[in-house]
Amino acid sequence: MTRVLVLNGPNLGRLGVREPEVYGSMTLAELDAAVGEWAGELGLDAEARQTDDEAQLVRWLHEAVDAEVHVVLNPAAFTHYSYALRDAAAQVTGAGLTLVEVHLSNPLAREEFRHTSVIGGVATGTIAGFGADSYRLALRAVAARSA
Ligand code: DQA
Repeated sequence: MTRVLVLNGPNLGRLGVREPEVYGSMTLAELDAAVGEWAGELGLDAEARQTDDEAQLVRWLHEAVDAEVHVVLNPAAFTHYSYALRDAAAQVTGAGLTLVEVHLSNPLAREEFRHTSVIGGVATGTIAGFGADSYRLALRAVAARSA
């Protein structure tokens, strides 16, 4: 079964209480459960993780490379400035694995500092602005590419 790591960055553990008008009312636990269901329907084996720690995200991306696992990554605020995360993400796609950058909101429709993604240029592709459905669409992309 095709494996995929679904990695969520800083503050995403606060989903449900954090700016629900922007990020919706779903909690991270509910999102993780939905991700598990959608992955199952697509024949994927998904494991969802969240951390507020940049170094942990880097380690998980290294783990994905070593274990040959595809990645759905919501880098959250790290999207906009973490070259460490970019370099780690580049190793995932450089290894021929799929890495989909996802966002619940559409950063391009928000504040100027969110208009830059340092991850996008090394991702396989980006899906943003569809709320939790961004993850569903990302999983579909992973499934389609590994069929
Ligand atoms: C986000 C968008 C980022 O700009 C923000 O820092 C987040 C969440 C999103 O999913 O819409 O924390 O990645």
